[in-house]
Amino acid sequence: MRIQENIPLAPFTTLHVGGPARYFVESHSEHEVSEAVAYAFARKLPLFVLGGGSNLVVSDAGWPGLVLKISLAGVEFEGDIQKMLFHVAAGENWDDFVALTVSKNCSGLECLSGIPGTAGGTPVQNVGAYGQEVSETITRVHALEIATGKTFDISTSDCGFAYRTSRFNTTHQNQFIVLEVSYRLHRNGDPKIDYADLKKFFAAGNSANPTLQQVRDAVRSIRQSKAMLIVEGDEDCRSAGSFFKNPIVSQAEADRVQSLAEKLVPGKALPRYPAANGQVKLAAAWLVEQSGFHKGYSLGPVGISRKHTLAIVNRGGAAANDILALKNEIQKKVFGTWGVSLQPEPVFVGFDRSDDR
Ligand code: EPU
Repeated sequence: MRIQENIPLAPFTTLHVGGPARYFVESHSEHEVSEAVAYAFARKLPLFVLGGGSNLVVSDAGWPGLVLKISLAGVEFEGDIQKMLFHVAAGENWDDFVALTVSKNCSGLECLSGIPGTAGGTPVQNVGAYGQEVSETITRVHALEIATGKTFDISTSDCGFAYRTSRFNTTHQNQFIVLEVSYRLHRNGDPKIDYADLKKFFAAGNSANPTLQQVRDAVRSIRQSKAMLIVEGDEDCRSAGSFFKNPIVSQAEADRVQSLAEKLVPGKALPRYPAANGQVKLAAAWLVEQSGFHKGYSLGPVGISRKHTLAIVNRGGAAANDILALKNEIQKKVFGTWGVSLQPEPVFVGFDRSDDR
């Protein structure tokens, strides 16, 4: 185990902001993860577990304790004619893993192509995009409990999955370290083409019966058009992806916002989608845009992506406080205009005032 000191964290995040980790260690095996946890415990150091850094805002002060970078590698698979079970180590690059499943002609993850980050992060926030969520295919999460150092296999039903949440970021936040995730996929299964953007892509004559590979390519190209694919040199993807969750509200609340929209922005229909338990999902991007934040909006060294209003972008040299200033301005204006409170999607690291979020 090689403990390093004062390691800048910004390069480990897609947003490229944040100060240093007081101590930093990279673990390549379960044993090394246990050792690092014991090291932090013995020295009473606060522990932060770092994966791909694609959904993080690290404070300018950085992290006062130990940052544990999960670099466990390896993919194994087993299966029969219909189903394939993939076991992927938490540190594996997510999109490389999706590419592998598609190359094996297995369906279930193709719509999750092009998402930055590592496999270990996917159950934590129940990663979802273009009509799929990992909760649909995860069969087991192998994790280490920080308090006891013991490892557990947690079944899907015990993960508490819902929109962008699981037990790992709610009731049991910071209590487990994901080590390996298992996904059950369909061999020779059909790709899922439910999301409007994908239907539009294929209706435009791109292919009548697309293959898994064609759907993967389409998702990556749609993501790129929204700067939600990491492309070297594209400033608009220096972000944490969607900065706010799409608000899930009651029918009555959605009707209220819709009536308001008819008055405030006549002719611009409020996007609303069915959500679990009869609720309604609103589009945070639309609410942001219709509150006066156009694509490409700037506030000092930060701004809103030129390609999607839900991404806050570091235009170069930004500090975490600059990101927070724009986040606060957006939340205030959206609440003032629509009476809807937007909840940030990324994880905030090293901020001591929870009311900042
Ligand atoms: N819209 C705008 N302006 C924009 C973009 C979108 O008004 O600049 C409106 C449009 O009405 C559009 C609607 O918002 O129809 C929804 O936009 P989009 O299809 O781009 O999806 P999203 O709701 O903004 C969510 C996820 C994304 C995921 C896409 C596709 C959340 C918070 N975000 O975005 O996930 O890729 O759907 O499934 O649920 C992420 O979590 O980081 C992320 C990128």
